[in-house]
Amino acid sequence: MYKIQNKIKPILLKCLKEAGRILKKGLHDRAVVHKKSELNLVTASDKAAEKRILEIIGSAFPDHAMLAEESPPMGNSPSRWIIDPLDGTTNFAHTFPAACVAIGYEFEGRMQTGGVYDPFRDELFFAERGNGAALNGKPIRVSQISKIGDALLATGFPYDRRERADEYLALFKPFMCSAQGIRRMGAAAIDLCYVACGRYDGFWELFLAPWDKAAALLILEEAGGRATNFSGDPLTLEDKQNLASNGRLHEAMLAIAGKFKHYG
Ligand code: IPD
Ligand code: CA
Ligand code: CA
Repeated sequence: MYKIQNKIKPILLKCLKEAGRILKKGLHDRAVVHKKSELNLVTASDKAAEKRILEIIGSAFPDHAMLAEESPPMGNSPSRWIIDPLDGTTNFAHTFPAACVAIGYEFEGRMQTGGVYDPFRDELFFAERGNGAALNGKPIRVSQISKIGDALLATGFPYDRRERADEYLALFKPFMCSAQGIRRMGAAAIDLCYVACGRYDGFWELFLAPWDKAAALLILEEAGGRATNFSGDPLTLEDKQNLASNGRLHEAMLAIAGKFKHYG
């Protein structure tokens, strides 16, 4: 395991950089190749970035399993890569430069290594279990804000937002009435990394997929943050209710989100 771990980081970084280059080049293509639903887009760059990531990992670790957003799950192994080749696809399809590549490496069901790369700001968030989290090589920590009235929070609205607008807005309102400000940028992996480095103090969103959060949750944890479902249990990749914070704010955010634990 230790020997494999030494090889994980360079391969993960190579994937992030190469996929990031593909995204940067593709931003002005506006090429939506497919719609998974009315609002859930797939661009040529999602496909191209994922193809390259799968090639790199597949040739370095042919026996590892991979869960990538645009492909069926592959392989069966205690080593598994969880890949979002382009997080922030709606932004990307509109040339709004807030998008990233997110890749996590898990061993026996536990995230070990995670990287999120935003090629538009050239920001690379990275963490290895037990070694802390960094942004472009410099250690990061969550913020110290402890009052929700002083907090800058972030959220996202899932792709079924037209059908479930009332529910999502009902949850939004008490946060809106409590926080200093709320941002909705459209890339959940970046949102979580921004909590990790203190730009945001907390985040919530319903129905994230494993690839939206796998890498960033390790980065958040290693930066001293906390992530749970709306009942306060440690967040799993399968949970539908996602609440993340700098830790100090968590109970205050749970007091709000906990009233919506029947959602999901
Ligand atoms: C989406 C983004 C968005 C979030 C959605 C995700 P995609 O991922 O992270 O911010 O609100 O829930 O599905 O489709 O751009 O990879
Ligand atoms: Ca995503
Ligand atoms: Ca995606």
